[in-house]
Amino acid sequence: MTDAALPTIKLNNSNSIPQIGLGLWQMDNEKECRTAVEAAINAGYRHFDSAQAYGNERFLGDGLQDAYQQNPGLEREDIFITTKLRNENQYFDGVIPSFDESLDNLQMDYVDLFLVHFPVTELRRPAWHKMQEIATSGRTKDIGVSNYTIKHLEELLNECDIKPAVNQVELHVFLQQPELRQYCDDNGIIVEAYSPLAHGNGLEEPALVEIGSKYGKSSAQIMIKWCAQTNMVVLPKSITKERIESNIDIFDFELNEEDLAKIASLEKDFRTCWDPTNVN
Ligand SMILES: NC(=O)c1ccc[n+]([C@@H]2O[C@H](COP(=O)([O-])OP(=O)(O)OC[C@H]3O[C@@H](n4cnc5c(N)ncnc54)[C@H](OP(=O)(O)O)[C@@H]3O)[C@@H](O)[C@H]2O)c1
Repeated sequence: MTDAALPTIKLNNSNSIPQIGLGLWQMDNEKECRTAVEAAINAGYRHFDSAQAYGNERFLGDGLQDAYQQNPGLEREDIFITTKLRNENQYFDGVIPSFDESLDNLQMDYVDLFLVHFPVTELRRPAWHKMQEIATSGRTKDIGVSNYTIKHLEELLNECDIKPAVNQVELHVFLQQPELRQYCDDNGIIVEAYSPLAHGNGLEEPALVEIGSKYGKSSAQIMIKWCAQTNMVVLPKSITKERIESNIDIFDFELNEEDLAKIASLEKDFRTCWDPTNVN
């Protein structure tokens, strides 16, 4: 296990979130998921991004139980856990029972961050009241949203008692979303970059390969570094030990102005996942 602590970012209620987390989407194979969690803990990850919809909260919980046994001194408080409210559970009376089930699967009495997974029309506003109730009970340290556009955030900020701590959205060098990032920044909401490797697309982009070669880094590391250097939380997913290790090994260099300008020019509004733009 590495001793170097991962950089953290302060959330708006002053809790801290490790800047890199292992993404767990498409890890619904138990062995794969538990092996990835073990490799991540050994590489120094302390942040895991799960969701009710990923079907792996139980595997993550089991993987962490193994990790506590294998690493004396490692405790629940050292780990940052995110899970997300499944769309089908966003109806008013469904929120709290589904959260209880998540805690049961994870074998925890609290999570660090609980997110509304997607801004489902007509369900997201009442669901937020229940999210706030869970936050007030202390069973999640923070609440936040995912896949929210500026329009959805404006609606929420106009009527919430507890502001979202984060907005987790697709964000990478080919989908840079500057207006959304600025809006979140202005309102004290941390942006979490999901699919930071564009789901594995575009890693052969010559500009990224060239920038990487200057620093002895891969194009994947440059993509992750760009998110981290622009103050986002980054959630790369991998089931491969070597990739899990290299995806976190990005804190020993800085991109310079010229690199950042080259990366800015890679924007092409390229989405690999859900597009919430036209969701009312
Ligand atoms: N809130 C949401 O709606 C939402 C939506 C999508 C994603 N997310 C979150 O964001 C996380 C990451 O997104 P993602 O899974 O779409 O994709 P990603 O992290 O952008 O890319 C993952 C893909 O890249 C490969 N990969 C990982 N590291 C690599 C490296 N160093 N070199 C080459 N290839 C590499 C992985 O392969 P291997 O696994 O085979 O190594 C996998 O195929 C998810 O797991 C989830 O936690 C959230």
